[in-house]
Amino acid sequence: MSVLSGKKIVLGVSGGIAAYKTASLVRLFIKAGAEVQVIMTPASKDFVTPLTLSTLSKNPVHSTFYNEVDENASWNNHVEIGLWADLMIIAPATANTMSKMAHGTCDNLLLATYLSAKCTIYFAPAMDLDMYKHPSTLASFSALKSFGNIIIPAESGELASGLSGEGRMAEPENILSFIENDMIGKLPLRGKKLMVTAGPTYEAIDPVRFIGNHSSGRMGFEIANEAAKLGAEVTLISGPSHYIPADKSIHLIRVISAEEMYNACHTYFENTDIAIAAAAVADYRPKNVASQKIKKAESSLTFELEKTKDILASLGEIKKDQFLIGFALETENEIENAKGKIQKKNLDLIVLNSLQDDGAGFGTSTNKVTFIDKNFNMEPMDLKSKGKVAQDILNKVIAHYND
Ligand code: CTP
Repeated sequence: MSVLSGKKIVLGVSGGIAAYKTASLVRLFIKAGAEVQVIMTPASKDFVTPLTLSTLSKNPVHSTFYNEVDENASWNNHVEIGLWADLMIIAPATANTMSKMAHGTCDNLLLATYLSAKCTIYFAPAMDLDMYKHPSTLASFSALKSFGNIIIPAESGELASGLSGEGRMAEPENILSFIENDMIGKLPLRGKKLMVTAGPTYEAIDPVRFIGNHSSGRMGFEIANEAAKLGAEVTLISGPSHYIPADKSIHLIRVISAEEMYNACHTYFENTDIAIAAAAVADYRPKNVASQKIKKAESSLTFELEKTKDILASLGEIKKDQFLIGFALETENEIENAKGKIQKKNLDLIVLNSLQDDGAGFGTSTNKVTFIDKNFNMEPMDLKSKGKVAQDILNKVIAHYND
């Protein structure tokens, strides 16, 4: 999945011959899963039509402050568009537009949006080779870079003038990979290894029956997906669950029993930075597993159960620098029980679910949790989707590394 998936991009097109390439650029952004709004300077419309870019971006294209289709409709609000964007790219960025950006000139919608945007801004210059080297152009580059904007350098080759040299706008594929690589490099969990457990475990009674629980695995899969989006190298150890990871980079290990989950966790834990135990591990398993299917001969049947290993507690015992997060699913004395688990299992953070809260626990798409850290600081959260709860948990992880 591209790091641009779900991102909101404003593409500002200024008036150079390279503007015709923005049709491909918009397509690449859309294929990467981004939402795109295009803003054109009036001059750029001589090189590519708004109709082309609105069709490809699936959004109206704006180049003036008033609504081009319906003059009585509200104006094109540059502040709104600027704040909507997760990132803005000006491509092609002509010498004229860059000079205006460098000096705060604001005589068209693209420049007003640029000045309003708070997101990361990239610019891909395009001009003839001598213009590209002119001291005033170089001064624009350094001013724009000093404002925190990121230059996507022009490439060398044949130019519209017939001359050959540096000044061609970077090819759309190269602009896309430049932005993707830049964003990947800045992801907050980049370089971190994260292990997460998910789902129920099944404890065999005989070859066809087991003891299990109602966990779907959703919470753990959401954590794995969100962590991968934040740049972590994710190992997901899951009991039986019908979910499949949305992010292809996730290393999925499927297990059945608590014993298998224990072994898998101990294989990866030493080499992990962050471990999150979201699995609903069976606490007991049949002491003797029948080798053949048990026949219904008797009027009642009794099993002797033995404790499974507490995976999380065993990780807490051998923990070095790992940031260790557990869950607690409680029905009464929630806070006290959760605090007890932090100490008993040597955790850095516990995510408490109370089954007394509506919308929390198994089989729901939502969860209501309270965070309790190892110093017993508590933070109750609102009822949220499990995806949003996963983001909150990972924000705690990021905060830990930023402290
Ligand atoms: N856990 C585990 N291995 C077990 C049991 C639990 O790793 N054999 C983990 C769970 O993944 C969860 C945390 O321990 O992160 C707490 O699980 P929970 O079921 O709330 O508590 P238990 O420790 O099993 O205690 P109890 O059932 O008595 O409340």
